[in-house]
Amino acid sequence: MTMHDTSYAAVMARKNAIMKQSLGIDYDDYIQSPIAFDYERMMAETSYTMDDIRRIQRETKVGDTPLFELRNLTAAVRRISEPGKGATILLKDEAANASGSFKARRAAISAYQALIKGYRGMIAATSGNYGAAVASQAAQRGLKSIIVQEVFDSRGVGQPEIVEKGRKCEAYGAEVIKLSVGPELFYMLLRTLEETGFFNASLYTPFGIRGVESLGYEIAEQVRARYGKDPDAVVITHAGGGNLTGTARGLLQAGCTESRIVACSVDLSGLHMASDRDFNRKAFTTGHTGFGVPFATWPDRVDVPRNAARSLRYMDEYQLVSQGEVFYITELLTKIEGIERGPAGNTSLTAAVTLARQMDEDQIVVVQETEYTGAGKHHNSQLAFARANGIEVRRGNPVDNVPGKAIVIPEHLAQVQGRVQDLDKLRRSYLKNAAERLPIAEWTDSDFEFLAADIKKDGEWVRNQGVA
Ligand SMILES: Cc1ncc(COP(=O)(O)O)c(C=O)c1O
Repeated sequence: MTMHDTSYAAVMARKNAIMKQSLGIDYDDYIQSPIAFDYERMMAETSYTMDDIRRIQRETKVGDTPLFELRNLTAAVRRISEPGKGATILLKDEAANASGSFKARRAAISAYQALIKGYRGMIAATSGNYGAAVASQAAQRGLKSIIVQEVFDSRGVGQPEIVEKGRKCEAYGAEVIKLSVGPELFYMLLRTLEETGFFNASLYTPFGIRGVESLGYEIAEQVRARYGKDPDAVVITHAGGGNLTGTARGLLQAGCTESRIVACSVDLSGLHMASDRDFNRKAFTTGHTGFGVPFATWPDRVDVPRNAARSLRYMDEYQLVSQGEVFYITELLTKIEGIERGPAGNTSLTAAVTLARQMDEDQIVVVQETEYTGAGKHHNSQLAFARANGIEVRRGNPVDNVPGKAIVIPEHLAQVQGRVQDLDKLRRSYLKNAAERLPIAEWTDSDFEFLAADIKKDGEWVRNQGVA
């Protein structure tokens, strides 16, 4: 057996070879320049049809999740809206997937791919839900699974939601490599892939994103079957952008070209994701701006050479909500609709309340309720942890929320307002990031074409920006 040099530098230098062996994709086949690559061909060459994806997912208890009309919440929103306003709010219940989140859709296709390509196991670096999904799918396919997870700050304290997700990975039979916050996550992932020869079930491969397409497709089918029309808006919680990308692609494949694609994240601006101190000062571990903004404005900051999740390609609007607003809506869902669901999905639900108020009564807004709740994910657990970490928790006007300092929970529904992000600003920030990879003077026509498609604008708009 060849002994590899396992120093940080040596492992990093072997990263492309490790990727090739652990995924079976040669990204060089698609890459056209430091910026552009053939995105659609990469997605198509996974060679799964929508029927294949749904059949594979059905085999392992994924998909066909229920769509519920939130009648009481819709009525409550109408009571605080202008006459004629207040869209019907529908909830797509992704907690019904094996392992309790929409991430099972991603993991199902990766597990199938790993199986048919003869890998003995699969590995993913993740803060949680995806780890549980990988472990659950691997278990059903007779594969081993290893999850690399950032759990602790330097005091050895773990955020309750992350600890909960780690327990779930272990319950499904995964080996969990638990790390403290820091740069070693990617290094550990590469080393583990190299040492085991397992499949790289990265969240950002074409297999993972194609797996989410069934979610958008099902929404289109279910809304049409029940209401005889397409959804007017679909609200999608955004972190790494795979949820939005896959769902939007699925809606488009079903022919829903007019549905408004709305991203939503919890506003955690001011907190630093790589900071040891801030790690445990956030009450949300995903679906927040600490991931959402950097990933939207430069998707390729991931553990594979090119990210198949490219949210600005599909996004029409980006809503922000505060932690306090999401806690309020979480309790409201429980108290008036009789179901408890997890924080990431309730982020979208919070934005949907704001949107529904602005939309007409005969319109439909669909919310992806993407995860289960319980134990460390539960809002009571999060609020207790926040208090223990010196964060003020009180009732009041949610505009007074300060990430890392104060969680202000609204006193009534009308205070749930959210706010929109300037999408063109995000697009310009994306272009700036592209210019850092390749100076603008070197951008070719095909780079311009790629960039325009990647931010849902035309070439003219890209050329007219200050950055280009
Ligand atoms: C339950 C849940 N919902 C939504 C998201 C956001 O998905 P994405 O990272 O693809 O944007 C995540 C990702 O961590 C998640 O776990």
